[in-house]
Amino acid sequence: MADGSIDLVQQVRAHLESLSAAGVLFVPRGEVVVRAPLRVAANPVVVAPAPEPEPDPFETRLRELEVLRTEVAACNKCSELFATRLQTVFGSGPLEAEIAFIGDAPGSDEDAQGEPFVGKGGDLLGRIIGACGYTHDRVYLFNAIKCRPPKNRTPTNAECANCRDFFRRQFDAVRPKHIFALGEFVSRLLTGQNATLTELRGKVHQYRGVPLICTHHPNDIEKDKTGRLKRETGFDMKLLLDTIGRAAPEAK
Ligand code: URA
Repeated sequence: MADGSIDLVQQVRAHLESLSAAGVLFVPRGEVVVRAPLRVAANPVVVAPAPEPEPDPFETRLRELEVLRTEVAACNKCSELFATRLQTVFGSGPLEAEIAFIGDAPGSDEDAQGEPFVGKGGDLLGRIIGACGYTHDRVYLFNAIKCRPPKNRTPTNAECANCRDFFRRQFDAVRPKHIFALGEFVSRLLTGQNATLTELRGKVHQYRGVPLICTHHPNDIEKDKTGRLKRETGFDMKLLLDTIGRAAPEAK
């Protein structure tokens, strides 16, 4: 037939003719079994099941960050920080930011607002970011410790150990391309060196395979009336931009 189906009538006739040729002249009712004709499309279109889409690594990492943010917000490993913080301060910025600016721990303004570097030191950090030729939406800001230590005291070794895994997971999800470590505390933590900031500055270190440059903390630059820390931070920014392969900022 035109559509390729097998003609039932022809099939029955051929069967009866072959019975007749074999001498069978009578077939009792119900004895003839004819299989239902197969209707097969002339040009069958085979539709393969759609393959499962590959998980987008970008989406996976964004989800990991949201899971991590929830875990950090619920963390109570450091009883003193848990008891005194207003909230945890996670971090902000895009994945694969050209630069991650990393501080030690939130201060009172950050504790109140839940965002890193929103206080006085944050204003200066904003000027440093701008002088490097970036805007906030192109860099990642976060801290090694997610809770404000009371009276901004230095975080203890136990607090650093409790937060280390959160920090590493966050770092690995964000995968920044370069790191500017702000201040001696976080510079020592990330380089793993028991050294002064003077010894750590002026070199390109590595943290988890990412180039790391150490500089002064914005709060310390603010307090320094001699202008030395600001000048030295300018040198560190030049080293950072040389490492990235960008032009050095204009001196101000
Ligand atoms: N100092 C830091 O190290 N981090 C902040 O978020 C604010 C001040």
